[in-house]
Amino acid sequence: MGRNRNKKPLLENIEIVKLAAEGKAIAKVDEKVVFVTNVIPGDVVDVQVTKKRKSYMEGHPVVFHKYSDLRVDAFCEHFGVCGGCKWQNLPYEEQLNFKQQEVLDNLSRIGKIELPKANPILPSAKTEFYRNKLEFTFSNKRYLTFDEINSDADIARTPALGFHVPRLFDKVVDINKCHLQADPSNAIRLAVKEYAFANDLSFFDIRAQEGFLRTLVVRTSTTGDIMVIVVFYHEDVEKREGLMAHLAEKFPEISSLMYIINEKANDSFTDQEVILYKGEDHIFEKMEDLRFKIGPKSFYQTNSEQAYELYSKTREFANIQKDEVVYDLYTGTGTIANFVARQAKKVIGIEYVPEAIEDAKLNSEINGIDNTVFFAGDMKDVLNADFIAEHGHPDMMIVDPPRAGMHADVVETILQAAPNRIVYVSCNSATQARDLQMMDHAYKVTKVQAVDMFPHTHHVENIVLMEKR
Ligand SMILES: C[S@@+](CC[C@H](N)C(=O)[O-])C[C@H]1O[C@@H](n2cnc3c(N)ncnc32)[C@H](O)[C@@H]1O
Repeated sequence: MGRNRNKKPLLENIEIVKLAAEGKAIAKVDEKVVFVTNVIPGDVVDVQVTKKRKSYMEGHPVVFHKYSDLRVDAFCEHFGVCGGCKWQNLPYEEQLNFKQQEVLDNLSRIGKIELPKANPILPSAKTEFYRNKLEFTFSNKRYLTFDEINSDADIARTPALGFHVPRLFDKVVDINKCHLQADPSNAIRLAVKEYAFANDLSFFDIRAQEGFLRTLVVRTSTTGDIMVIVVFYHEDVEKREGLMAHLAEKFPEISSLMYIINEKANDSFTDQEVILYKGEDHIFEKMEDLRFKIGPKSFYQTNSEQAYELYSKTREFANIQKDEVVYDLYTGTGTIANFVARQAKKVIGIEYVPEAIEDAKLNSEINGIDNTVFFAGDMKDVLNADFIAEHGHPDMMIVDPPRAGMHADVVETILQAAPNRIVYVSCNSATQARDLQMMDHAYKVTKVQAVDMFPHTHHVENIVLMEKR
């Protein structure tokens, strides 16, 4: 163990033994677990420790002595610098194996529940260009790599349009080609940057709170619709018109071209007015014979094709009968509720965000679905005995909570309501396991299906069918 000035040890020549949660990997030193970023099993590295606790340490590699035999070449020129797609160097099969194992480990270790034989994880058909939405950030401070900083060449810190560097809120990696979203996403981003350079439009400085261009959102759809939103820090009619007209002319395929003037300190635009420049103020996504209307602030699952697989599995597990009342908790824009409505007598969707509930209602309406009802509010307040008495006893429930899982009160209300079956869709199998344990005395887990929505990241969805004991 070496020492450096900041007193955190340098661990030399250690072998990475397995993958761990959150995209990190594990080595063991003197029986202590070390969580290391940016490595895969089989790598032998020197690790600079950044955090030291009684039972574990965290760090990053500073020297590679051996690269793992498992490694494959990353396909993206920005790999290792940009924070996304960090498992590109791990074969997709290995990524899937790890995700499957992580889900099962969490269910059995945290949930301590008896498990059926799990279905094999569902891979994503597309492992590149699978996202339908990206938000790029303009910054007057391009992130410089260590190589650039250490090189003798005269490297200018030019403005950048791309992605935030993890943990550095004011620096942005300038992206040439991103493999996450299909064309014309890359072409639009590059054209905006080129126009901005040619016409002297300034890029935002988040520290100084000055500059003109803030963010660029591109949404694509399986229907072929394309939405582009340019976010400016302040109004400058001439400059703004110039850029918007340029985009409209160069990309006639953009079906919804919009902009926002966001004078706030932060980039979030959920509370901002979105102004239509050309086309429609929405795009459509489709799934089977359903159409979903997506406005600039609407949520939609970001991997459309794999969302269809996720929902299809959910519907299969739910096995809804014509006379059944279904509750879809954490319904978002009501996509699952609408997707299963034709099988059910009635579907009741509940969700926190009022705008999402408006979208959910609209999506029922445009699809001629008249057996859904939607309510906005915090689940623990809305879902109670009175609500259930008023809207009908649930024969089955579908729940798809955020990463934190369900509030204990919500779990308790579900137990009181005692539906025959529950399908629990989760993007965090650790909190899912905790919730399943609370229901284990009343429900038996009979099916488990992990679904990979986000190749080359550590994220994984998991669907569980629970049946009343
Ligand atoms: C994982 S998303 C589910 C989205 C939806 N099922 C879909 O597939 O599009 C979780 C949803 O729960 C909502 N949510 C988070 N906390 C909530 C709460 N306390 N009460 C109600 N809804 C909540 C979020 O706004 C989000 O829409």
